[in-house]
Amino acid sequence: MEWSTSAIRNAFLEFFEDKGHEIVSSAPIFIKDDPTLMFTNAGMNQFKGVFIGNEVAKFPRIADSQKCLRVSGKHNDLEEVGRDHYHHTMFEMLGNWSFGDYFKKEAIDWAWEILTKVYKLDASRMYVSVFAGDSEMELDTDTEAKTLWMNHISEERILAFGRKENFWEMGDIGPCGPCSEIHFDLRSDEDRRSINGSTLVNADHPEVIEIWNLVFMQYNRLENGGLENLKNKHIDTGMGLERLARVLQQASSNYEIDVFKAIIDELGLIATQKYTGGELLSDIAYRVIADHIRTIAFSIADGQLPSNNGAGYVIRRVLRRAIRYGFSQLDIKASFMGALIDPLLNEMGDAYPELKRNADLIKRVITEEEKTFLSTLDRGLGRINAYIEDLDKKVVDGIFAFELLDTYGFPIDLTQLIASESGLSVDMNGFQIELEKQKNRSRAASKAEFGDWTILLTGENSKFCGYDDLQLETQIAKYRNVKIKGKDVIQYVLKETPFYAESGGQVGDKGLLKIDDSVVNIFDTKKENGEIIHYSNGSLANVAGKVFAEVSKSFRTSVTKNHTSTHLLHKALRDQLGPHVEQKGSLVTNGKLRFDFSHFEKIAEDELSTIENAVVNQIQSSIDFEEWRNMPIGEAKELGAMALFGEKYGDEVRVVKFGDSIELCGGIHVNNSNVIGGFKIIGEGSVASGIRRIEAISGEAYDEFLKGRLEKLADLEKQLGDPSKSIEILKKLQLDLANTEAQVVKYLDREKSVLIKELLDELGTQSGLQILAKELDQIDGKVLKEVAHGVIEKNERSIIILGGVFADKVSIVVGIGKLILPKLNIDANEVIKLVSAEIQGGGGGQPFLAMAGGKNKKGLKRALERSLELLAN
Ligand code: SER
Repeated sequence: MEWSTSAIRNAFLEFFEDKGHEIVSSAPIFIKDDPTLMFTNAGMNQFKGVFIGNEVAKFPRIADSQKCLRVSGKHNDLEEVGRDHYHHTMFEMLGNWSFGDYFKKEAIDWAWEILTKVYKLDASRMYVSVFAGDSEMELDTDTEAKTLWMNHISEERILAFGRKENFWEMGDIGPCGPCSEIHFDLRSDEDRRSINGSTLVNADHPEVIEIWNLVFMQYNRLENGGLENLKNKHIDTGMGLERLARVLQQASSNYEIDVFKAIIDELGLIATQKYTGGELLSDIAYRVIADHIRTIAFSIADGQLPSNNGAGYVIRRVLRRAIRYGFSQLDIKASFMGALIDPLLNEMGDAYPELKRNADLIKRVITEEEKTFLSTLDRGLGRINAYIEDLDKKVVDGIFAFELLDTYGFPIDLTQLIASESGLSVDMNGFQIELEKQKNRSRAASKAEFGDWTILLTGENSKFCGYDDLQLETQIAKYRNVKIKGKDVIQYVLKETPFYAESGGQVGDKGLLKIDDSVVNIFDTKKENGEIIHYSNGSLANVAGKVFAEVSKSFRTSVTKNHTSTHLLHKALRDQLGPHVEQKGSLVTNGKLRFDFSHFEKIAEDELSTIENAVVNQIQSSIDFEEWRNMPIGEAKELGAMALFGEKYGDEVRVVKFGDSIELCGGIHVNNSNVIGGFKIIGEGSVASGIRRIEAISGEAYDEFLKGRLEKLADLEKQLGDPSKSIEILKKLQLDLANTEAQVVKYLDREKSVLIKELLDELGTQSGLQILAKELDQIDGKVLKEVAHGVIEKNERSIIILGGVFADKVSIVVGIGKLILPKLNIDANEVIKLVSAEIQGGGGGQPFLAMAGGKNKKGLKRALERSLELLAN
């Protein structure tokens, strides 16, 4: 195949490299420093800070291939995927950028050149669109773009469209501008002769599709809906790699290009139905699964696992959507998605090595998720069958259909399918109403409101000085009011700042800002689009003067101790468990540290203490902190510095070294390891399949912990009498207790037999139903139960109800003999459930023997009477 997807990608990058562009790698799929976005949805996201003027571009021209996800927010294609042949949740976007360098002319000329000269696309199948202007925004038609296009293509192929099609915006707020798109007509010559392609552009025609978007970035959309000019004019272009591959591979669908074909072929070996490439429900299922598996695999490789909230929840929903389609349309009832990873690796593993490195983890996580979800589906099926059995009408309620979706993840088409098998329909109207209600609820819950910034200082700000200083005098660059989860917060940006903004797991600094007499507390610090934002719940009386910024020293000190401990722990884990240990997440606060890493089994106690000792040993070895603030990334890697996947690193990085622990890290550390003092692992467990978590404390928290333990110990020793002999005393007590217990057991056994015999005798003298309720003195629940058991075993026609009080605990036991139980319409368990309230307690057991414990002695008599009533009737 001349134009494999990889060849297309390479040709694009080479072309723009020749035109003076720096080639950079794709940013991670997850956005870490922009509260308006969850996922990378366009190639330009990683450059947003440059467009809005917060960051300086490292190169004036850049090109790359970016992994993008469009599954939430303004750009969400999830519902289209599979139903058509050209939308994807994850896709690759080829892009070239100019940051205040070239503008429309070069962007248009080069786009045309590469399409017609390199990829040799048929010019007679192409149309371009330009912005038609918009009166509300007070913007005119883009005649400049039109004139430039006329150098390449005839005027009737240049079409003008309005804001929806030809004004590109990143989100509700942020950089934006008019754009110009290139569309390609894939229809047969016959179809092309009969209908003019220009009438099909932007008309959702499956064979006349957009392939490239050239955005002329020149505005910033404000919170109030207005536009402001950006400082410079920029170019942002994005071409869908899969769509271009479809054109070049002359495939009739994106899903027939090399990367998807391999996955679909593999799926064909698992499913009963074959892929026909058409519009059958099973065909849609094939496309959904082939698309979604990429999203899921890339997400996990970038460190975002499926979870219950935020980005992780979106990923879980995508995964479940694929499983559901497999389950209901392809009859696949067991986990299967892991098998699709190998073909995916074959196609994309070379261009994206993170996939290869994490292949094992990806497969395990997917399989675990599938298992859990399949059992949920199973329970849902049980629920729906029971509902249908009880139904006395022909329509399934909309509320019930919604409940199935909400609780069991049942898509509505699956519910409809199951309903129709029983000759029922679903009240779709009612269902839609419930769905809408839920959407409104979640919209209201997630909305954060951002006021516009008041700008006091333009130019560069947010210079971080906190490695060397905890306090400094500076100026406020800008501030704004925001509402976060209903709370008013004032955000400040400073010209320079000692405050560390949350990143790399280390929490943001706390401290204060002060101008004259006015002081506000800073309760958190975060990064956003390259700026450091200080969060406060009060506002400064005056914002114009010199501001004194000070980080809380005690807070910072505790955090740094935990951060350095995290590095030492990471190293110790790799040394002890092996090089497969990779950091998957961390949280470093002033109280404790949390470290997540790839490892497939529980860590044994002795291994855990070896790891803990290794860290303590490093702490006690007084290792000096070494750092390089601007080391070229190549050099850092040569040094053996550990990098984190899913993290965006520049060409120059900061390297932090403590002895043999070398990491790329922007965080703050102690000067010498011995400052940390002590370290202790306080927890080890699993967070997801293949991922373990260790929690630990160090520094002040460790001291506190130790103090608490010592106090407890002292108390214990005091209780035991002579502290110098406490162990001996304890051992003796244990021995005495064991001896006494052995004797008690012996006597108790004898006592129980006597009791059982007495009770049997008493029962034996009764005529008719052999039933007896009796309160026994000073006998605990466990013994009562054994006695009751003894009675019903010896007399299988008897019913025995016993009550007793021992050490302030009230117990009641009901036993029913084997031969009598089937004749009753109530069993022991049910009786206990009904009477346990009398003794203010609860309990249960089996149909033939059940007991309850409670605390109300006065109720015991009544409980016995009621049990007797219930059983005698
Ligand atoms: N930002 C534009 C898009 O996503 C072009 O890259 O379509």
